[in-house]
Amino acid sequence: TVSGREIDFGVMALRFEVLGRFNRARAAQLTLPHFVCQTPLFMPVGTQGTIKGLTTNQLEEIGCQIILGNTYHLALRPTSELIDELGGLHKFMNWPRALLTDSGGFQMVVLILDRVSWTNLSAVEVSLLHLADITEKGVTFQSPVDGKPMLLTPEESIQIQNRIGADIIMALDDVVKTTITGPRIEEAMHRTLRWIDRCIAAHKRPREQNLFGIVQGGLDPVLRDICVKGLVDRNLPGYAIGGLAGGEDKDSFWRVVAQCTAALPEDKPRYVMGVGYPLDIVVCSALGADMYDCVYPTRTARFGTALVPEGVLKLKHQAMADDTRPIDPTCACMVCKNYTRAYIHCLVTKDAMGSQLLSYHNLYYMMQLSRNLHSSIVEGRFPEFVCSFLQKMFPKGD
Ligand code: GUN
Ligand code: ZN
Repeated sequence: TVSGREIDFGVMALRFEVLGRFNRARAAQLTLPHFVCQTPLFMPVGTQGTIKGLTTNQLEEIGCQIILGNTYHLALRPTSELIDELGGLHKFMNWPRALLTDSGGFQMVVLILDRVSWTNLSAVEVSLLHLADITEKGVTFQSPVDGKPMLLTPEESIQIQNRIGADIIMALDDVVKTTITGPRIEEAMHRTLRWIDRCIAAHKRPREQNLFGIVQGGLDPVLRDICVKGLVDRNLPGYAIGGLAGGEDKDSFWRVVAQCTAALPEDKPRYVMGVGYPLDIVVCSALGADMYDCVYPTRTARFGTALVPEGVLKLKHQAMADDTRPIDPTCACMVCKNYTRAYIHCLVTKDAMGSQLLSYHNLYYMMQLSRNLHSSIVEGRFPEFVCSFLQKMFPKGD
């Protein structure tokens, strides 16, 4: 025992070996049941067990190591029972590498917020609609199928994720927007800690699937600290930093990440949820984070935007109509080797192929960024990599 407490080595289904460091940044090998991954690492987000428009062969070709399945969508259709019967999500979607599922509650809240903003309802109408409600039992929401109230408890979320069978599963957390203040932030943090014990107790496959806890606590360093300590006491296989990328300013966002990474164990992976932009990934990696997920690269592709070292390239722009260069002349991806900006400009509003080619390139860009972060840390040239990344993105030094 250490200071009177039992050492709990826990049961986990991963190995995390740090291969190199530069100050707080680290490059590691993360061995999961279905794949040996290199970090820092970006994970693309799928919805109905697919990354829109790309085959799993293409995702392997791009170098994707882990992809996200959406528990909420999969639970509704085809249902987690059916996925289980068919041998799990890996087999169902023909993806041999690693998978991660989120717990579902966050997606409901986001989906509902999305719906509200689309329909432009007033605050009163929103409160009358009462679409999602978080209580101690779990997250209550209206089924998008038949409008009936449904309850997602921590136990149910874990049971669903056990059936889906991803390499990493996420605890059900109480998420509030970082931009709100007051007692609700504190309540959500404490509830997240109470729910982690219900998640741990409900988890039936700790030898095959890794349950990650999620640090909440808004922008309050005291609350974040309590949450990190509480989760670390549970000796989980990995930890996520949640509740960010929700409209807070960059300074607050980076401060929370810096505080959490400093307090989390060195020998476990750290995952910043819902992040994000290439610049955020570089900064968070410098702060000691290892894993990221975001819909941005594929969503922005569907709006005709390509990620390039200089920032973004809008393929819808009229200037692209007769531009015979590839999207990014320095990119080695299949799209940049074979197609011109002019061709993609032509497709982008008229044919699904346009957004498919852009998604392919954008994910390749994110995976190349992950690989560059990894190798520059291992080879001791991380500062040079960061400088050159920033110089290309902000050539005027702003
Ligand atoms: N995705 C992005 N942020 C979060 C979060 O705070 N919690 C969960 N469960 N998923 C997220
Ligand atoms: Zn490319």
